[in-house]
Amino acid sequence: MNFVAIRMLTGDRAKYLGLIFAIAFASFLLENQSSIFAGVVGRTASQILDVTDTDIWVMDPNTQYVDEIRALTENDLYRVRGVPGVQWAVRLFKGLPRAKAPDGKFRVVILMGLDDATLVGAPGRMLLGSTADLSQPDAIIIDRAGYMFFFPGQPFTLGRTLELNDHRVKIVGLAEASPPFQTFPVVFARYSQAITYVGQERNLMSFVLVKAQPGIVLKDLCRRIEATTGLHAATTYDFARQTIVYYLRNTGIPVNFGITITIALIVGTVVAGQTFYIFTIESLKQFGVLKAVGVTNRRLTGMILLQACLVGIIGFSIGTGLCAAFFLVTGKLLLQTRGFILLWQSAVGTGALILLIVIVASLLSIRRVVVLEPAMVFRGTQNGLARRRFAFLGSIFRRNRGRSRPLRPAIGMSNGSTTNGAIAVHCRGLRKEFGEGQAKALVLRGVDLDVPLGQMTLLVGPSGCGKTTLLSAVTGLLDTNDGELAVLDEPLNQLPGHQRILFRRRNLGFVFQEYNLLPALTAAENVALPLLAAGVARRRAVERSKRLLDSLGMGARAEALPAQLSGGEQQRVALARALVHEPRLIVCDEPTSALDAETGHRVMELLAQVAVRPERAVLVVTHDSRIFDFASAIAHMNDGQIVRTETRAGPRVNGDGVPEPGSLLLAQVSARPAHA
Ligand SMILES: Nc1ncnc2c1ncn2[C@@H]1O[C@H](COP(=O)(O)OP(=O)(O)OP(=O)(O)O)[C@@H](O)[C@H]1O
Ligand SMILES: [Mg+2]
Repeated sequence: MNFVAIRMLTGDRAKYLGLIFAIAFASFLLENQSSIFAGVVGRTASQILDVTDTDIWVMDPNTQYVDEIRALTENDLYRVRGVPGVQWAVRLFKGLPRAKAPDGKFRVVILMGLDDATLVGAPGRMLLGSTADLSQPDAIIIDRAGYMFFFPGQPFTLGRTLELNDHRVKIVGLAEASPPFQTFPVVFARYSQAITYVGQERNLMSFVLVKAQPGIVLKDLCRRIEATTGLHAATTYDFARQTIVYYLRNTGIPVNFGITITIALIVGTVVAGQTFYIFTIESLKQFGVLKAVGVTNRRLTGMILLQACLVGIIGFSIGTGLCAAFFLVTGKLLLQTRGFILLWQSAVGTGALILLIVIVASLLSIRRVVVLEPAMVFRGTQNGLARRRFAFLGSIFRRNRGRSRPLRPAIGMSNGSTTNGAIAVHCRGLRKEFGEGQAKALVLRGVDLDVPLGQMTLLVGPSGCGKTTLLSAVTGLLDTNDGELAVLDEPLNQLPGHQRILFRRRNLGFVFQEYNLLPALTAAENVALPLLAAGVARRRAVERSKRLLDSLGMGARAEALPAQLSGGEQQRVALARALVHEPRLIVCDEPTSALDAETGHRVMELLAQVAVRPERAVLVVTHDSRIFDFASAIAHMNDGQIVRTETRAGPRVNGDGVPEPGSLLLAQVSARPAHA
């Protein structure tokens, strides 16, 4: 049945693409926003993480994060150097002087002053020049984004000059630095020169960068430095985290992104979840058909979960692909978004979330499918519903009228009228009510009916009198409230649900008024449904169905979709579906009412010809008096009871086995007027 689930899903292109789009959209939004959030937050620690050749950052105890620094003294540096376990310790300056380009354009820059001798903290990725060139007087290295700001549209060349607080400096290198949170350009210089660029401050050392001796546990060394010097020491990783936490606590970033991500989540959940839910609800009738032909709730649940996982995976993959492409393209094209990437954590989290969303949506819709009364497949179109609503009013009126009357005893049809005396359906005093309290309506008011094997029996009566309800009860699709019901000698209304399904699977064939073919399956696949439900392999089931369609004159149309078939052809396919598993009872609800007279006649001919067999009973509900001649018996129903039956000779069959309706005789009328 898995292929049926997939076809149902993909059959309606517009809905399917809508679903995929909704999930892809939600995935994209979630991954995009969470990755940008992580990227922005990560930038606050860019200057720390870019210094890869150090283990520990030592700073004033009041320095909380990398961008607001209380200066250290030269003495502090020497004390750190004296701590056991320190291999080397060097100074680092970080300041924010103002830089001016020759054309007057100016901007605050992040200036990193590196230890003169070792250049610890120099950029790792040089695009032009070399860090050693910093030894030249007034030399600086600038990051690519800064260069592009000061010299927009100009080729990357060295030797250009800038003014840093009125000091003229020369660009000797171009580096790739991680983008800082403030989006300022990043400039590197020697410590001794950097401090001359920033003016009046006396103590200019921002940090002491420490390399630990091999084999030393960094956390221990941090504690030792703190104990010895009274300064604060943190590993590179801890200091980066400390800075990130500071920004998260003290800026609106988390709130801002929190809102966007929450909106993405809500939009994603609502759009994806609801679209999938609606998709299932709109397919309820199809699920009803599957239930009617004997597909178990477990199987249906599996089908829905399969559909959910499929759209979830496809939608998520597309969304993730788009998000990765987004970062790839914008990272290349835009300076502002450089360094932003789709984080695997974000993709994994989003994937899990999408899975959760579709599974919750499918669980909700599964509930609808599980509690679905398969009897709903007998319900007609809008027209039919409107008709039923009027009928319902009529039945209230009749019921009120009838309240003072005693219930009429109904007449069974078994008395000597069967071909071989065997009874397929036996009802006595069958009662069914709908609703509760005030709205309670007794629809079957003690039905007595026998449907013999080897015949076609018609059930006729005014609209709303309970024919469909009786049919649903007789086929175990609807629970009854009271009365005796034996179908092929099984007490169907007393069997537990699962056994009822198995019984239906083996013994019942359905023809519905609306044909109820699954639109995404071909004619042959539709016919094969009862076999598939019974576990026959798809190929064998479809082959058998094709042979049957062939014998019904539909061989050439076996691969057609229902939408490509005429009404008569669809009803023939539905007939084949009812016959394919050779059931012993076939029930049809108004099989000709959607057809014109001639087509309806031909369908009935076919039904009489192929369905009526000695070991099989056919029960047909109809309004159509033109097909009465095909019946061996007619049960008249009114107001929830069988009030009259006619026994007929049944159709005379010609040499080809085709019944000749014109030749039918009215054999016997067990007359008893409906309102006697
Ligand atoms: N699930 C339900 N809940 C409440 N009332 C229902 C339900 N199903 C049927 N009824 C009512 O039971 C009555 C009989 O309905 P049913 O569909 O069996 O009539 P019918 O004889 O098949 O009519 P029609 O010829 O129009 O198809 C109607 O009044 C209908 O409104
Ligand atoms: Mg009906």
